[in-house]
Amino acid sequence: MTTGSPAAPESASRLRERAAAALTAARIRTAGLTDAVTDEELVAQHSPLMSPLVWDLAHIGNQEELWLLRRVAGRESMRPEIEPLYDAFQHPRAERPKLPLLGPAEARRYASEVRGRVFDLLESTPLEGSTLLDDGFAFGMIAQHEQQHDETMLITHQLRRGAPVLTAPDPDGPYDPSLAAEVLVPGGPFTMGTSAEPWSLDNERPSHVRDTAPFWIDTVPVTNAAYLAFIADGGYRDPRWWAAPGWEQIREHSIEAPLFWHQEAGQWLRRRFGVIEPVPDEEPVLHVSWYEADAYARWAGRRLPTETEWEKAARYDPATGRSTRYPWGDADPTPAHANLGQRHLRPARAGSYPAGASPLGVRQLIGDVWEWTSSDFLPYPGFRPFPYREYSEVFFGPEHKVLRGGSFAVDPVACRGTFRNWDLPVRRQIFAGFRTARDL
Ligand SMILES: [Fe+2]
Repeated sequence: MTTGSPAAPESASRLRERAAAALTAARIRTAGLTDAVTDEELVAQHSPLMSPLVWDLAHIGNQEELWLLRRVAGRESMRPEIEPLYDAFQHPRAERPKLPLLGPAEARRYASEVRGRVFDLLESTPLEGSTLLDDGFAFGMIAQHEQQHDETMLITHQLRRGAPVLTAPDPDGPYDPSLAAEVLVPGGPFTMGTSAEPWSLDNERPSHVRDTAPFWIDTVPVTNAAYLAFIADGGYRDPRWWAAPGWEQIREHSIEAPLFWHQEAGQWLRRRFGVIEPVPDEEPVLHVSWYEADAYARWAGRRLPTETEWEKAARYDPATGRSTRYPWGDADPTPAHANLGQRHLRPARAGSYPAGASPLGVRQLIGDVWEWTSSDFLPYPGFRPFPYREYSEVFFGPEHKVLRGGSFAVDPVACRGTFRNWDLPVRRQIFAGFRTARDL
């Protein structure tokens, strides 16, 4: 898609092609992540934090059946007896391995049977006439849902013990090691959120004007080298830097470094998809909780950016006064713009992706690492739940912090300048890092 906001409507055949391509790309990734391990490993629970991979597989098919075949096409359930097993709200992750889940072969067969019927539906159904069908929204929502589970499954792979089974080339694009440390973002109004992006989700809507004071923001995400200085300075032993629940968490679990790090003979190593390797200095730090990000920022005499500041740094073009879809403009992401789509299984070095810079020169806002912001996950003014309350509304409140920008694990279909993610501030296994900000 090349349309910005305001978007010119796409032809129905172009929309069908785009929806089919997005669904196919998601399925290829799902297959790659689930075919990489044995059936025993598919049904095993690699961490109480995660579902067995075989649950994700059938859940992907079940949500696709629910929204496209039942809600859009009005059909009967294909397997009514399995519906409750794959409802994420009925069964927390920890108890999913005990459910009578479909086995690997059956789960694959079910998901592909649903997909066959969905492709038939996509050929024949008009892509207009209801809020679910307009612009192919429901098909786009389901492609995003599958890609989000592909990210979740990649987290399961990261938590999995044993020999590595996933490989990908390292990022090797151009990189500038000596950029200015921070960028000044001017104060004043800008447009946040979207009403025009056809496959945007309810929590990104509607677009509205917000004002900010001028502020400084890091040009690149905080690196491992910078974070190591915080560790070396005793950051994990000094309660001054920590919000009270974060201090409690690190004491209770003896946390003294990002998740998956350990020290051997004075050197910091990390485990990444089964490989033990030295922590690379130039890479954005990964697998830190919101509390760790917040503590680092205080130690550095700075703070996390608000969600509003993050989006302004990412989308506001001072030359036109307009907010673009991405930092580089309105064009869809290419491999030159950002580290997305599991092409690489790690962030690129800080200072990479010159073509992805914002007009003000901020780098790597999209891709590489999710970025914690200081903001609670709250509705925008004029928010309307769509297509169901459980998509976003039930998560609004101070218990969830907003993350922005996507990681190397996120597909472009589920990543935009307006895209909002949220999680608990204690969460560490997600592909999250951060950048810092300060007032002028
Ligand atoms: Fe889901």
